[in-house]
Order: sequence, then C-alpha cells, then structure tokens
Amino acid sequence: MYIVAGGAAPVVGVSALVAAAQRRGWDACLVLTPTAARWLASDLPGLADRTGHPVRSAYKMPGEEDVLPPADAMLIAPATFNMINQWAAGLSETLALGLINEAIGLGIPLVTVPWINGPLSRHPALAASLARLRGAGVRVLDLAPGPEGDEIPWEQVLDALR
Ligand SMILES: Cc1cc2nc3c(=O)[nH]c(=O)nc-3n(C[C@H](O)[C@H](O)[C@H](O)COP(=O)(O)O)c2cc1C
Repeated sequence: MYIVAGGAAPVVGVSALVAAAQRRGWDACLVLTPTAARWLASDLPGLADRTGHPVRSAYKMPGEEDVLPPADAMLIAPATFNMINQWAAGLSETLALGLINEAIGLGIPLVTVPWINGPLSRHPALAASLARLRGAGVRVLDLAPGPEGDEIPWEQVLDALR
C-alpha cells in the first residue's frame, strides 16, 4: 500500500497509520508531498526504518530505478485542499500527485481522507473536485473536521480499504 500524505495537521501522526497498516499485513510505503516532507524532516529516517522503504517525496531522475514496489492500493491521507483540487484537475507537479493521477488510469483502489475545514471547505472548487474524483472511482471518506480534533481514526480508514 502507498500512503500518500500532504501538509495537513494529522500528517504528524502518520507513523501510527503505518503501524496500523502493518498490523493488518500491508507492506506500507510512504509518499509525502514536499510540504509534508518538510514538516516531518526530522522523522524521515525513522519512518524509512519503520516502513523498510525510502520515504519518497520527489520524482526520480530519468533512468533511475523505482525504489518502491508497485502499489496494490493507495490511501491518500491526509489530503489537503490543494491536493484534492490538483488531483481532480489532473495536475502532477509533485510525485505524490503524479502517482495518484496515474493510479486512476491504472484502476488501483484509492481511498482518500480530505482534511479540510473552515472557510476552505466552503470554496466551490472543493465540491466539484470531490465529485469528479468520486466519479473516477475514488472512495472519499468524510471524516474532517472530526470529534478527534486533528487525529484521523486510522482503523476506520483501513477498514475502508479492505
Ligand atoms: C500549520 C498548518 C496547518 C495546515 N493545515 C491544513 C489543513 O488541515 N488542510 C489543508 O488543506 N491545508 C492545510 N494547510 C495548508 C497546506 O499545508 C498548504 O496549502 C500546502 O501548500 C499544501 O501542500 P500539499 O498539498 O502539497 O501538501 C496548513 C498549513 C499550515 C502551515
């Protein structure tokens, strides 16, 4: 499973998601947006150790081998307002977006947890983007803002991937 995470508060707890996924038998690989990678900079070596794979946040160079195994499923969480709108528009400026855009065409199962609250949740682009992604087969979990504050109920999210 690829866990593709963006720059929203719950990303600081992404190691709990990795652990929960591993308990269920997933080989979890972590892909971060550049923003999320900057926030987690000091945790990246530990996250690579925990997953057993490099944590990716930038495109490889032409001719370089892929360092991650192919994905059977992708969990895009937390997904920012920016990611959801770029994904729906088919923009691939980051590795994270490139992978999830390609995954739609490959038919890889996709579950996302948009983490968008306050004024951004009322921006008209968001509803249109979510409708477009749902129409492309993406399972969108409506969990934010939740009663848990900035914590995502990872077990519930993993249940959706089963
Ligand atoms: C402390 C902090 C918290 C943020 N929380 C959110 C959030 O919950 N949801 C969101 O969509 N953007 C949030 N943002 C804004 C995003 O980090 C920003 O739009 C960034 O460009 C997203 O990049 P990415 O989509 O490539 O990860 C937050 C920014 C900061 C500094």
